Amino acid sequence: MRIGILTGGGDCPGLNAVIRAVAKSLILDADAEVIGFEEGFLGMIEKKYRELTYRDVSGILTTGGTILGTHNRANPFSYYGADGADVSDQVAENYRELGLDGVVVIGGDGTMTIAHRLGEKGIRTVGVPKTIDNDLMHTDRTFGFDTAVSIATDALDRLQTTGQSHSRVMILETMGRYAGWIALHSGIAGGADVILLPEIPFDVEEVARVCRQRSRKQRFTIIVIGEGAKPIGGDLVVRERVEDADDPVRLGGVGHYLAAELQDRIESEVRTTVLGHIQRGGSPTAFDRILATNFGIFAADLVRKGRFGRMVALKDGTMSSIELEKVADQTRFVEVDSLMVRAALAVGTSLGDQGLTVEIEESEVNLTL
Ligand code: F6P
Repeated sequence: MRIGILTGGGDCPGLNAVIRAVAKSLILDADAEVIGFEEGFLGMIEKKYRELTYRDVSGILTTGGTILGTHNRANPFSYYGADGADVSDQVAENYRELGLDGVVVIGGDGTMTIAHRLGEKGIRTVGVPKTIDNDLMHTDRTFGFDTAVSIATDALDRLQTTGQSHSRVMILETMGRYAGWIALHSGIAGGADVILLPEIPFDVEEVARVCRQRSRKQRFTIIVIGEGAKPIGGDLVVRERVEDADDPVRLGGVGHYLAAELQDRIESEVRTTVLGHIQRGGSPTAFDRILATNFGIFAADLVRKGRFGRMVALKDGTMSSIELEKVADQTRFVEVDSLMVRAALAVGTSLGDQGLTVEIEESEVNLTL
């Protein structure tokens, strides 16, 4: 058996842990030959790859990034050759020439969409859900998310020092694209006073009210805001547009927008920190190492069993898999009435909308939702 592996989209803590688990498991259990494509789908387009031996994938469990490199502008369906046609047929030919029995693709929604479309060209793929954003459908967790939440939580703890010392309003802008998972989970873990999510448009007056109220007693306020959050009736704050990228919209700046709006309404000084790529860097947490390893082993198992066209998933604490086509072109948002949202409200955290109320049923125990 000869299997390829690639990492697509942005880097993410745990990528190397998955590469290691897939390769080791296939080498040990199926005596497979494993090759790693370099720079995501660009490696499949340009036949840039290298053999991955057991030794090559040893000692990489704890390292951030990806030993294979990655690329988020190499979609074979929007990458054109000299003849003007997209290179997806070329990729299929390369796959056959390399004598591959399948490819494990590790990536986010864009990568899963490409994997699904390559399946229609005869390329057999198994997907592994990666993204710090945790926004892939049909899995309760993507690896990388726990690390990002832990970094954002640490940032909130540190911002509290300045907030308390200077009686300021401290805003932390997190990543997460159009979903508020990182902001919500780090906000709860870091005890933020206000959590603003893309899923719940915020009322600036309500946020200002919380800041004023807190300035009278506690004297400082901690706000966490997801980069995709927007005010009621307002628009997303876009940092830049990149025409040839898979996602042409780069979000960023809503934290500064909010600071300017608040500063006109309150007396306390307001400061903003945009956490940026720090959330994606460095070593994965123990949870992400464990999750990535299990995803990798499960993906290798799907390969051995010939169950292609599927993405591994974690559902209600159990490893499972789902058809790639059900994941492609989808985003998993925070549900406004989920237990996590209600937990935040129940401890007095504002979600920027005074109309939101809570009720928690005893039977609700799933902390991943
Ligand atoms: O999808 C992961 C992510 O880090 C998002 O949270 C963020 O919006 C985006 O990627 C940033 O992309 P880039 O690294 O291309 O700037």
